Amino acid sequence: MSDRNFLFVLGSSRSGGNSEILARKAAEQLPPSTGQTWIDLSEHRLPEFEDLRHDSDHVRPRDGAAALLLDATLAATDLVIVSPLYWYSVSTLTKRYLDHWSGWLRTPGVDFKDTLGGRTLWGVTALAHTEEVVADPLVGTLNHSAAYLGMRFGGVLLGNGSKPGDVLTDTAALTRAKTFFAQDAPLARYPYDTE
Ligand SMILES: Cc1cc2nc3c(=O)[nH]c(=O)nc-3n(C[C@H](O)[C@H](O)[C@H](O)COP(=O)(O)O)c2cc1C
Repeated sequence: MSDRNFLFVLGSSRSGGNSEILARKAAEQLPPSTGQTWIDLSEHRLPEFEDLRHDSDHVRPRDGAAALLLDATLAATDLVIVSPLYWYSVSTLTKRYLDHWSGWLRTPGVDFKDTLGGRTLWGVTALAHTEEVVADPLVGTLNHSAAYLGMRFGGVLLGNGSKPGDVLTDTAALTRAKTFFAQDAPLARYPYDTE
């Protein structure tokens, strides 16, 4: 029995878009014994993030989107950020979710960093631009965030498309999707880490 549990965090501002389509193609390849949880950030709206780090303690959320996302994040062995490329980086919904990590890192009793350390972060992204190199800022955001948390990083599955469904014509992306989650995910490293 697989003891892996994938959490897909959907960050598009529309449902059924290219990023989600591509993520579902990749997820089809996961063994049936692997758990899958899908949470759409546009349906489960996190509150505006407030930086309380230097004023008072963050309090563990007990209900609402924050509690749902925190509990699901802590339960995931594999965390998949499914975000379209917006202005060369992650979407606002995705960024807000990542900002909440800063609060959860400092919430007494949560052990966010120890729990996520050694687990795996993945990305799935659709973009309209045909040159994939323009997604480097998004890839850097996810890689460096994984490095900060001591996580593994499986990379970002990129697919091309503008209107919903376009990504289904990106045959190279669909081929990559078939083996994406089977790849090795090394411990994430900052670019200056040499050892
Ligand atoms: C606010 C916004 C910003 C965008 N910025 C970029 C961008 O920087 N580069 C790019 O190639 N495409 C950009 N796009 C296009 C989307 O990445 C593209 O339509 C993608 O397929 C959307 O994914 P989705 O269908 O999962 O929402 C942008 C779209 C929106 C709405």
